[in-house]
Formats: sequence, structure tokens, C-alpha cells
Amino acid sequence: MTSETRKLLIVEDDPGLQKQLKWSYEDFEVFCASNRKEALDILRSEEPDIVTLDLGLPPDPDGVTEGFAALEEILKLKPDTKVIVASGHSSNEAAMSAISAGAWDFYQKPVDIDELHLIVNRAFHVRSLEKRKEFLEQQGNGKDFVLGNILTGAPEMIKIANTIERVANTSVSVMLLGGSGTGKELLARGLHNISDRRDKPFIAINCGAIPETLLESELFGHEKGAFTGAVKTVVGRIETANGGTLFLDEVGDIPLALQVKLLRFLQERVIERIGGRKSIPIDVRVVCATHRNLNQMIAAQEFRDDLYFRLAEITVQIPSLKDRTGDAVLLAKHFLNKFAAEMNPSVKGFRPEALTVIDQWTWPGNVRELENKIKRAVIMADDRLISSDLLEIDEDDEQEFLNLKAAREQADRKAIYRAISRTDGNISNAAKLLGISRPTLYDLLKQYNIET
Ligand SMILES: Nc1ncnc2c1ncn2[C@@H]1O[C@H](COP(=O)(O)OP(=O)(O)OP(=O)(O)O)[C@@H](O)[C@H]1O
Ligand SMILES: [Mg+2]
Repeated sequence: MTSETRKLLIVEDDPGLQKQLKWSYEDFEVFCASNRKEALDILRSEEPDIVTLDLGLPPDPDGVTEGFAALEEILKLKPDTKVIVASGHSSNEAAMSAISAGAWDFYQKPVDIDELHLIVNRAFHVRSLEKRKEFLEQQGNGKDFVLGNILTGAPEMIKIANTIERVANTSVSVMLLGGSGTGKELLARGLHNISDRRDKPFIAINCGAIPETLLESELFGHEKGAFTGAVKTVVGRIETANGGTLFLDEVGDIPLALQVKLLRFLQERVIERIGGRKSIPIDVRVVCATHRNLNQMIAAQEFRDDLYFRLAEITVQIPSLKDRTGDAVLLAKHFLNKFAAEMNPSVKGFRPEALTVIDQWTWPGNVRELENKIKRAVIMADDRLISSDLLEIDEDDEQEFLNLKAAREQADRKAIYRAISRTDGNISNAAKLLGISRPTLYDLLKQYNIET
């Protein structure tokens, strides 16, 4: 099922009229109720977006008290419902007070089916626009982006972004430490983009991906004839970055011999191309990253400590995704939006249980793993909503880490997410469903950092 089902609830106590109305709607899923209680039961179970409501319901079929009571309860339970009330032959007055009580529109009795359909269709149209808007608002409206393209709502990351902002316009060297896929390169670019070097080049070089024998030439360049095969002069990355930012990725992979040469450059700020004679002054901001443990490497004499101190005037430890409160879900929604737009526009969101899984998974591959999993799920999805099995996360992997407290917390979270999504974020109703008081639920939301 890819298109949205449009659910309509008809509240009408006259069985003949109920039947007639029911069969007049072709492209809706129609539910009927003859009294207030039935109406509310269906509202709870089916969550129709639109309700047509006869105000004259038993036990007051000739008055409007029961109809108004139903209206009030419907809107209390699901405030975004569009309720269209029937106004009797005589009184437009009742219709007007229904509108001021929150009804969306009214129709005249005896019913003109075409006119009623027009009103109902319009209500659906407006409701679907509203939903679209709510959906977009949920996806992060820009305020969660820091340093331009880094998406986060987590205090742990915002702190880091602040550090980077503070040092951006200095020339201190920055070392970014963090697990794979935590966004080291993205942060390096962010740093460059907010610095006053932003109009000059940002040059990234992955020192781990280039064979040792080529790395020196790649970094420093070479003159024509410097070695066999050097058929022309080549400018190195350091020189290309002049005026801008040089990002040395996987700096821990630089061989010792080259570490010496890099150190000399950082001390003197001049380079010589391989086979060259002249010294070329270079002004670059150096940012580096590694997922290796440089302290261990220093102890094992695999990395020079003097180079380390040159590269790491400021060190920034980027937290793993699982330690960024709320970010997994935030980023998941962002990636879903992005990939759906590119590849599968009928995908609109996640099932609540999928969000629970995303929130609780440990994400060993961090943002990159999340991005890849969401991309895959979006491509594979046949439904509007992505279910947890599409994420291909084996939750059992995690069980062995759980103690009783964590297991309870996990169960709590699951139940809370379900209740909140079932009530469309209405806290009072979610608390009712969970059988706890509203303040208790608020406390739990705070404790577990769940956003509604
Ligand atoms: N906070 C974030 N907001 C949006 N996208 C992010 C964020 N963090 C990472 N990404 C995305 O995740 C992917 C991995 O990020 P990046 O390449 O910067 O990580 P890395 O730490 O350099 O990884 P590796 O150690 O594997 O080189 C990229 O596609 C990047 O755009
Ligand atoms: Mg990287």
C-alpha cells in the first residue's frame, strides 16, 4: 500500500441515512457510529482524520447536547480531527456554536450528498496539507544544523561545534579524534567553511589510502626528472592548499621517515618539491584526523611525539553516535528525507517501532552506518513508512550488554514511544494509555531524553 488511506467516520443515529451516506463515499475507508461511545471507540482504534457528526444523537435525538458532548470529546482526544457537523433544518445557530467549539465546517439537513462530498473532500485536502507540514517540521527545520552542514541536536556535539567555532579563525592546528563515521571530515570542512580561509582551497588527503612510496610526492610535489617516471613537474597537496586548509586524514598512517619531513614543514612553513632546489613558503591551516590511538603509537615509537604536538595544538574528541542524545533519530529522519527525495519519493517516514530500534541501536559504524542503513531501507521500501526489519539491525547482538536496569529502560522507552506515536504526541492521552500520570510521563520523557 503506497497511497494514504483516507479514513472517514460517520456519526449518524438514523440507520437508513447512515447506510445511504456510507455507500456514497467511494474512495474513502468509511466507518459508522450511531452514538457517542461508538464514535470514540472508532476514533481511538482507527484515527480517522475526518468525522461527520449529526448533533442529534441519543439520548437527546431532538436536541444537540449529546452531539456537542461528542464534538468536545473527539477534539480532546484527537485535536487535529476535522469534524463536520450537521445542522438541522431550522437552526443555523447550533452549527455556528459548533464551529466556535472547534468544528471544522457544517452541512445542512436534509443532506445534499454532492455538497457534503465537497466539504468532506476539502477537509481531507486541508488535513493532508497539514500533515505534510507537520512532517516537514519534524524533519528539522534548519535550527538543528551547526557549522552549516552538521546535523545535531545533542548537547555533546554542540559543545564541540562551539570549540571549533572558537578556533576557526586562529591558525592553531586541530586534531579530530573519533571512531569511524563520526563525521571527522565533515567537521574539518565545517571548520574551513566558517574560517576566514573559506574562499581558499580545502584540500583533503587520506594518508592511509596512498601507498607509502607515493605519499611524499603527493604531499610535497616533485620537479620534472626528480625520479624515474617524473615526466613533468607536479605540485603537491600542501602547495595546492596554500592560503587555505590542509586536511590530513588518517595522519597516524604516515610512515616515520615522512613524519620527519612533515614536522620540518610545520616548523618552518616552507616546502621543497622532491628534486627541487627552491624553498616555497606556504601558509596553510592544518587539520588532521585519525581513528588510531596515537598515544599508543608514540609509546611504541611509531609516531613522533614532536609531530604530534605540532598537529594537536587543539584536540577534539568527537563522541560516538550512541553518545549523542537524540541524534540517531534526528539524523535518521534527515537521511530518510534526503534519500526519499532522490530515490523513492513515496517513502514518508518511519514506523514507531523502527524509530525505537534506531534510538536504541549502538551504531558501531556511527553516522556513516546510519546513513547507509537508511539509504538501503529507502531503496527497498514498498510502503510509506519504513519498518524496522528494513534496517537490518540484529537487536539480539545488543542483549549481552544489557543489565536489568538497561533492560527496564529499554522496555520503558519502547512503551513510551508507542504511546506517544499512537496519540500523535498528545501527552495527556499517552499518559492515560500508559496508565501513569501526566507529570510522571513528563519526568520519564526528560529522563530518557525523548522528544515528542
Ligand atoms: N552530524 C552529521 N550530520 C550530517 N551528516 C553527517 C554528520 N556526521 C556525519 N555525517 C555524514 O556521515 C558520513 C561520514 O562522515 P565523515 O566522512 O565525515 O566521517 P569520518 O569520521 O571522516 O569517517 P571515517 O573515519 O570513516 O573516515 C558522511 O556522509 C557525512 O556527510
Ligand atoms: Mg574520514
